[in-house]
Amino acid sequence: MATVADIKKQLENVLYPGFQKSIVEFGFVKDIELTNENTCVVHLDITSSASDVEEQLKKDISSTLAQIGVSGTLSVKKPEEPKQQSNSVSGSNIAPQIKNFVMVSSGKGGVGKSTTTVNLAIAAAMQGKKVGILDADIYGPNIPRMMGLNGKEVEVVGNKAKPFDAYGVAVMSMGSLMEEGQALIWRGAMIMKAIQQLLRDILWEELDILFIDMPPGTGDAQLTLAQSVPVTCGVNVTTPQHVALDDSRRSLDMFAKLHIPIGGIVENMSGFICPSCETESDIFGMGTCEELADQYNTQVLGNLPIEPAIREGGDSGKPIVYCQPESVSAKRYMEATAKLIAFVDEVSEKAENASIQPTTAPGVSACSTASAGSAQQSSSGGCGCS
Ligand SMILES: Nc1ncnc2c1ncn2[C@@H]1O[C@H](COP(=O)(O)OP(=O)(O)OP(=O)(O)O)[C@@H](O)[C@H]1O
Ligand SMILES: [Mg+2]
Repeated sequence: MATVADIKKQLENVLYPGFQKSIVEFGFVKDIELTNENTCVVHLDITSSASDVEEQLKKDISSTLAQIGVSGTLSVKKPEEPKQQSNSVSGSNIAPQIKNFVMVSSGKGGVGKSTTTVNLAIAAAMQGKKVGILDADIYGPNIPRMMGLNGKEVEVVGNKAKPFDAYGVAVMSMGSLMEEGQALIWRGAMIMKAIQQLLRDILWEELDILFIDMPPGTGDAQLTLAQSVPVTCGVNVTTPQHVALDDSRRSLDMFAKLHIPIGGIVENMSGFICPSCETESDIFGMGTCEELADQYNTQVLGNLPIEPAIREGGDSGKPIVYCQPESVSAKRYMEATAKLIAFVDEVSEKAENASIQPTTAPGVSACSTASAGSAQQSSSGGCGCS
């Protein structure tokens, strides 16, 4: 009859998959429970959430224990499988020093994406986060004007550009890298290159959150971004009219297709606050986003009124959340940001970028990287990238 000590000794022959050390040496065997004369339950506490590791261990333990006439079953404690993030199919992360990426999108143009990006980002910095803004709207970059950086020269260090600092936020925009007024016709491969350069060839410091202001719609820029970095979540900006809401659905569907968690919806230009009497009146409809949020299992981050001070703040490079913190809109931006930060923290707690994303060299597919995280191997069914 085998004793617990015999079984433990025998388990010293079972190597942890992919390593030269045994499960006993690693300290993964927590308990051995004899259930009958020649049967036992081996309690393991392992560090990998991948199902193939558990399968392999099952096979190896059972055949090793069979050699001493013991039939062993396994009870395995392992970490929760990380939630799939947008790029876990491509496995790429070309800016690993940035913890979280928030993609600000909308189905149609002119609904206030850039205004929202600027105010949410500054609010996040005011709430203690290390924040950056990447203006990925290569067709119509507005961030420099809105952050008071129009016409400012970019500082180049080596062959990389340094982001500007404005209102405590690191900022870079294609608008600052091109001649003012220069119009480029962006096509597929160029869009991809431009977006990737904005991530890779800019000296981004370690950041908690990089807010990315996207061009309107659901095109190549969105796809490139999702394939280049693990987008923590997407924020959808919309106005409350129904046409805009239909467009919003497209944008929200895109997040789902790209496996990007939805951080929430910002209902912009929702109601009007009269500058003289501060009464709020309903112009385009208000609160229509609640239903949309329910359908997509997400939240409304905030309802931002049409407030002349918001537009003036944008045009003059003096964002309302920083320059008029007592205004109704500034307070709503602060509240929306607090909700967003809570969501970002929740997503990144479940899937810590650095630990689950391989940081491959630019242009190298993570699929060919032997050290790619086990979660990726188990969740990707072969991404087809090269
Ligand atoms: N809540 C608001 N109240 C008043 N004006 C606003 C508000 N939100 C945005 N605006 C103004 O509306 C205009 C469009 O906003 P913005 O540029 O942020 O939109 P966008 O979605 O980024 O546009 P595009 O698709 O062209 O990039 C700007 O002049 C901006 O100042
Ligand atoms: Mg814009």
